[in-house]
Amino acid sequence: MLKINHVQKTFHPNSPDSHIALRDLSLEVAQGDFVTIIGSNGAGKSTLFNAICGSFELDQGQIFLDGKDITHTPDYIRAKNIGRLFQDPLSGTASEMTVLENLALAQGKGGWLSITRKSEKEFFREQLKALNMQLEDRLDTPVGLLSGGQRQALTLLMATINPPKLLLLDEHTAALDPNSAAKIMELTKKIVKENRITCLMITHNMQQALDVGNRTLLMHDGKILMDLSGEERENMSVEDLLSAFKTIQKESFDNDRMLLINE
Ligand SMILES: Nc1ncnc2c1ncn2[C@@H]1O[C@H](COP(=O)(O)OP(=O)(O)O)[C@@H](O)[C@H]1O
Ligand SMILES: [Mg+2]
Repeated sequence: MLKINHVQKTFHPNSPDSHIALRDLSLEVAQGDFVTIIGSNGAGKSTLFNAICGSFELDQGQIFLDGKDITHTPDYIRAKNIGRLFQDPLSGTASEMTVLENLALAQGKGGWLSITRKSEKEFFREQLKALNMQLEDRLDTPVGLLSGGQRQALTLLMATINPPKLLLLDEHTAALDPNSAAKIMELTKKIVKENRITCLMITHNMQQALDVGNRTLLMHDGKILMDLSGEERENMSVEDLLSAFKTIQKESFDNDRMLLINE
């Protein structure tokens, strides 16, 4: 359902700061896949999500969603089919607006006008209740007053209230306390499963990367270096992943040193 074809992205091209963040990267994701993505800082994980969302033009390559070439589709059009959550629970909601107002905005389709309707309010209350985060009685509370966990639960609901074709989670539990992080992860699994959403999730938690979903990618230096699924993934331990990481980092360190010596 998602096909990424030889995508390349350079930041600050033709300047001393030039940096290739995605290198000839190709990836195919099947309908219903839940893919976890790990990789060191600066590996290009968030840039991959930005490429999928259309935050910039690519140097080269194509992106297809459900067979449709979206390579040059503007980000706001893509957003109709792609939901995204960030690490910072503040980034997905309008903090001065109430829970109800945020949900109405997320729902679109005239939802904004209908929030005064009792049936609509009840619908949102039911949805909030299902999150099990004590949000159902806070419809009229400004979102800025919620806890980080509550806010991220609301963001998750907002991103999926009209289930997107694709959900992109960029370390969406990393900024939360362990208890809230676990709750949000459970909610994520439930919502993704119930709505059969295809999902990509960046995480720095290797155990989570192996436990959640059905496929794991390891990114480094703008490339996908490992693509684990099936039995290979089942047999993989966190220790195996860590040692793969170390080997990769040592290799790139050696390469950098070679470059320095050659220059
Ligand atoms: N908008 C941008 N402008 C310039 N450089 C960027 C931009 N976004 C990311 N980069 C650079 O691209 C590389 C990959 O970044 P990123 O995708 O955020 O890594 P990750 O999410 O894997 O930690 C980094 O070196 C980062 O500094
Ligand atoms: Mg990132």
